[in-house]
Amino acid sequence: MIALEMYIQVYRHLYSHAYSGAMASSHAHSPSVPSPSSPASGPSVVGRAWAALVPDHVFDFWAAQVSPTWSRRRSLARIVARQVAADHTVTLVLAPNRHVRMPAPGQHMVVGAEVDGRRVGRSYSPSPLPGRRLAITVKAVADGRLSRHLVQSARVGDVLSLGEPFGTFALPRDDAPVLLLAGGSGITPLMALLRAEAARGFTRPITLACWVRTPGEACFVDELRAIADAHPSLRLHLATTREADPRFAHGRLDAAILAGWTGEGAAPHVLACGSAGFVAHARALCTDVAASFQAEAFSPPPAPDGEQGEAEIHLSRSGTTLRVPRNQPLLVALEAAGLRPAHGCRMGICNSCACGKAAGTTRDVLSGACDPEPATALRLCVNAAAGDLVLDL
Ligand code: FES
Repeated sequence: MIALEMYIQVYRHLYSHAYSGAMASSHAHSPSVPSPSSPASGPSVVGRAWAALVPDHVFDFWAAQVSPTWSRRRSLARIVARQVAADHTVTLVLAPNRHVRMPAPGQHMVVGAEVDGRRVGRSYSPSPLPGRRLAITVKAVADGRLSRHLVQSARVGDVLSLGEPFGTFALPRDDAPVLLLAGGSGITPLMALLRAEAARGFTRPITLACWVRTPGEACFVDELRAIADAHPSLRLHLATTREADPRFAHGRLDAAILAGWTGEGAAPHVLACGSAGFVAHARALCTDVAASFQAEAFSPPPAPDGEQGEAEIHLSRSGTTLRVPRNQPLLVALEAAGLRPAHGCRMGICNSCACGKAAGTTRDVLSGACDPEPATALRLCVNAAAGDLVLDL
């Protein structure tokens, strides 16, 4: 312990900006803490020399003995509260360190943790909260290693890694009405947008419609009803599709119910989030009645229709050649073959899975379009092999 304190004293003296920056990670309200990356206030020559002598992982090891989110460079966040949000679903409130770039409402971040000795990551849509806090709502899914860990095992005090915010899901800037359509867990980015709009006092009419299979799966019900009570501009439609319950409407999204929200006044901007099937259904219904349509699907893209057989893929960097099904996104196919390509959202948004294609034809599983161009970049999560490929992996 004495050695640790001496180390910190020495480091504080020689590299004061880095030290105070780390301090800021647990005192995030302090706007006066200078950034070590700021050219005007960066570390001294001596401090930089000292920093070069102490590798990041050594600094992080010792810093973490003092505070678990202190780090020279890594974007980390500590779980400071945990609350059950619905069946098999929790909301975790996170206190990010100073390296975390806060997301805009509706954006996603890749959340990472070590599970059974292996680092795993998955994208979630955090809600920014007052006081530089973030809330993520996580549903445990059967094959989701990270989601099951976060719901069943993660505790207050645990530290998670956070990636850069990404995504362009946002309310249009004009005053036209907005229709938010959520299928199941798709409520989370829409909730972040709605909270931000509530904080602004609702500048336009908004309808939020959310479908869950059972009442127990519904998140944010009390909060949504409280917002609606306080803001007449918000119209709520909370529905179940499998189990009827007097507290909820019952039935799926269809043209008749949509007409009730789009038939009068200006055409609404529609934002939809849910499974790939829910989003495709919403898109088909809204084509002729929406002023604009934005959508995000949290489930993997569907397999390309009609594609049969296998393709040979040569991975030029590793020198590996393997055969994969042509009807699977490449990310899924490579993972099934035991590889671990970098990825984040798994839905074509974050670009984390982008890699070079040297040769061959791929099929975009969202649009069905084929790309025979050599020497292009592709996203593994939303492209499948339409023939033999050479990838820069
Ligand atoms: S994993 Fe995000 S774009 Fe592929």
